[in-house]
Amino acid sequence: MDSKIDILNDKIAKAHLGGGEKRIAKQHEKKKLTARERVNYLLDEGSFEEIGMLVTHRTTDFGMDKEIYNGDGVITGYGTINERLVYIFAQDFTVFGGALSETHAEKICKVMDMAVKMGAPMIGLNDSGGARIQEGVRSLGGYADIFFRNVQASGVIPQISAIMGPCAGGAVYSPAMTDFTMMVEDTSYMFVTGPNVVKTVTNETVTSEELGGASTHSTKSGVAHITSSNDIECLEDLKRLLSYLPQSNKEVTLKLPYQLNDEVREKLATIIPDNPNKPYDMHEVISGIIDEDSFYEIHKNFAENILVGFARIGGRSIGIVANQPLYLAGVLDVNSSIKAARFTRFCDAFNIPLLVLVDVPGFLPGTDQEWNGIIVHGAKLLYALSEATVPRITVITRKAYGGAYDVMNSKHIGADMNFAWPSAEIAVMGAKGASEIIFKKEISEAEDSAAKLLEKETEYATLFANPYTAAQRGFVDEVILPQDTRRKLIKAFSMLENKVSVTPNRKHGNIPL
Ligand code: COA
Repeated sequence: MDSKIDILNDKIAKAHLGGGEKRIAKQHEKKKLTARERVNYLLDEGSFEEIGMLVTHRTTDFGMDKEIYNGDGVITGYGTINERLVYIFAQDFTVFGGALSETHAEKICKVMDMAVKMGAPMIGLNDSGGARIQEGVRSLGGYADIFFRNVQASGVIPQISAIMGPCAGGAVYSPAMTDFTMMVEDTSYMFVTGPNVVKTVTNETVTSEELGGASTHSTKSGVAHITSSNDIECLEDLKRLLSYLPQSNKEVTLKLPYQLNDEVREKLATIIPDNPNKPYDMHEVISGIIDEDSFYEIHKNFAENILVGFARIGGRSIGIVANQPLYLAGVLDVNSSIKAARFTRFCDAFNIPLLVLVDVPGFLPGTDQEWNGIIVHGAKLLYALSEATVPRITVITRKAYGGAYDVMNSKHIGADMNFAWPSAEIAVMGAKGASEIIFKKEISEAEDSAAKLLEKETEYATLFANPYTAAQRGFVDEVILPQDTRRKLIKAFSMLENKVSVTPNRKHGNIPL
């Protein structure tokens, strides 16, 4: 019996060694943790249970039958994070560079299937040289098996990808189809084709970091939702992100115990500048409304003219979409529309109520925007908010102009409660622009056209640069004092808790892509 136990212990020890001590040392030299260290750090101590530790590849070509590693370059299993069940895979770069073989993919698919059946989040820690070159199409088939499952699981369980090393070629499409892509600065990169192929095809010279590093994807492409400065920070960020999410689409988010004692927040009354053209930081409004330090921003450095992220209000998780007057005056453009639409759809799929804070002067004009399809991309946000059935509340802090008024969770597209501050200006456009158009003749014929413009501007502003016309029509449910916003929102979200929304039966809608 002892010898049989020795055989098992030997196999386990080999699996724990991955690709061997030398390669582990190399991984550490690159300031990266190994796959096993990552799993152990992320999950509650002692909670990890491995599945498929003794799986090995089946390839015999190119002498591969002599290179066998228990686990085949990926660690898979389940455990808990803050006592909540999660499924996980972590690619082991020390074994064939974490390259994906047929069996490596089978292991990932097995835990993905379990995550869907059991209704728990699926976490992927990616660190891989891509398709296992020695396996050819079998490896590609493995990728497709994963992609298919990503799509089946979409909207059913939260799927999170952390990119903690290379992620190239076809490999990028699994993270791209998960809900959140996180990247570690300086040690991770993602691209469809690497710098060498780029040089050959387009003659561009570019480094891996420039082409697909964390900073590129968090600022230019928007592929990365969250970036972290090292492995540990990334795993901590992942834990924090999960804390806002439900286990699956069948659950609602955890309500943390919260002692209400600070519902009236005077600071909120001091944020909006007297001059309507002066910017202010919407972060201040957010922090004035929510539970202390609870805002977790997503896509922080991408399309900064809109803010999206999770927060808590009275202990309850909510998603926030907010125009940011500090950047481009908070206009809607291609990237901000896409960013907010994607976030809205995530919240809606996972029963996370939405708070929309509005200060928007309209859509960004110009050939760049039009030629890049602002019509269709702006429509994404309109569509995403219109189809969302979670509790939806709007607060208009200042401008709500033109079509952007409709888009930003107006009453007309199904918002449940719409509040406005006394500083709100709900109109087709700003008073100056409006007067120049509708009083063009009068202004041009006036002796002092500048004085006439000012007169007409004042007239228009008195009529429309306020929330009261909208409130008279019921487009705004209540005009509230800024300092009362938190109290009103806590009550309104609580009132909306059991919202039921019946939608027409259909296969699926056709969101403008
Ligand atoms: N298939 C099989 N083995 C692979 C592999 C792959 N796709 N990618 C890397 N490896 C192996 C390497 O042969 C090496 O093996 P060794 O430890 O026995 O020497 C090990 O993984 C580490 O790779 P190495 O190239 O030494 O690491 P690096 O950090 O210098 O570079 C990459 C990492 C990912 C940039 C580089 O390995 C690479 O370009 N891989 C191929 C990427 C690719 O084209 N994939 C297929 C398209 S999806």
